[in-house]
Amino acid sequence: MVNFDTLSSIFLERYQQTPFCYFAPGRINLIGDHTDYNDGFVLPAAIDKGIYIALQKNTGSRIRLYAVNYQEEVIVDLNELKPQSKLWANYLIGVVNEMQEAGYAVGGFDCVFAGDVPIGSGLSSSAALECGIAFGLNAVFDFHIPKITLIKMAQSAEHRFAGVQCGIMDQFASMMGKEDHALRLDCRSLEYAYFPLDFKNYQIVLCNTMVKHSLADSGYNERRSQCETGVAIVKKYHPEVRSLRDVTQEMLSKAKEELGPLIYDRCSFVLEENDRVLNSTDYLLKDDLINFGKLMFASHHGLSKKYEVSCPELDFLVELASTTEGVLGARMMGGGFGGCTINLVARDRKKEIINRFQSAYENEFGITPDCFEVEIRNGTHAYKTHKS
Ligand code: GLA
Repeated sequence: MVNFDTLSSIFLERYQQTPFCYFAPGRINLIGDHTDYNDGFVLPAAIDKGIYIALQKNTGSRIRLYAVNYQEEVIVDLNELKPQSKLWANYLIGVVNEMQEAGYAVGGFDCVFAGDVPIGSGLSSSAALECGIAFGLNAVFDFHIPKITLIKMAQSAEHRFAGVQCGIMDQFASMMGKEDHALRLDCRSLEYAYFPLDFKNYQIVLCNTMVKHSLADSGYNERRSQCETGVAIVKKYHPEVRSLRDVTQEMLSKAKEELGPLIYDRCSFVLEENDRVLNSTDYLLKDDLINFGKLMFASHHGLSKKYEVSCPELDFLVELASTTEGVLGARMMGGGFGGCTINLVARDRKKEIINRFQSAYENEFGITPDCFEVEIRNGTHAYKTHKS
């Protein structure tokens, strides 16, 4: 169990000061995957699991970072920021580097953090870590950087220090989430709107495959460049096109031969997924969970067959969900190649549904998947009355 009291006492003992504390949530994504870096739409929400960060300035030029979960410390000099072999440190140092490059004079500081979001499960523990440190340093050093800039710094840190060419969804959701609401984000204009999430007799249950395939990072970057290839081809005939957001099914069909079947499928998935996000919020507003759930299944099908970012474990769980009474929708979530499925399940059947998922999965893969509920909470914030 992570809590701020324990975190503060670890901090005090290690670094002999009382820290300021911040919480940055992980996120779920109801629908809209692999659309963000194509200037499209997403529908994520911040959750009650995330990263707890304790921070305080020190008087030197060193950053001392301590990861409670790993019981590891990394110490670096502010004048020599570069990627480290301990991967967790890169998310923190990457953000400091962004701030420095933007002209903010980050001074020496100490940081202790812990997380209760399962790593590699598609719940964006890394974005939470980046947002937590960005938000915390902004407060501790009185920089007054707007949240949207913090979000972009966090995303850029991931590109440059973690090597993943991610979109903006995870950092945006972790920073801007709102209790009991999903956030529909237009990843081009960065306009967003909150949609109340009241599933009445239904609720969200996540089911963790407990696997993260090694393809995750390379496969992700490869998908991104395949989309760019598609855009470059369509652009020859439609010079106004800047990203897949500007491409229509008709344009794709016309260029089908030149695109080839693989690039065509990648691009057409993205177009369809954007439409699904826009339709899904209409259904949410009408309380039409049945059709909302159908979109979730359709999203998974596209991610698995056209975009090919699923894996046998995720497919198994979604297939099982589709034949389980009381489940309205299910899909993989996030980058893919492992991690969690998100399921919309009847409250009064939750227990039997989880049992069914767990025993069938165990029979097939020999591991018990972790199935759990999440609550939808506010984005990154200061703890209690500490400086925010
Ligand atoms: C990862 C990335 C996001 C997004 C999702 C897929 O979580 O960090 O930017 O692209 O994958 O939707």
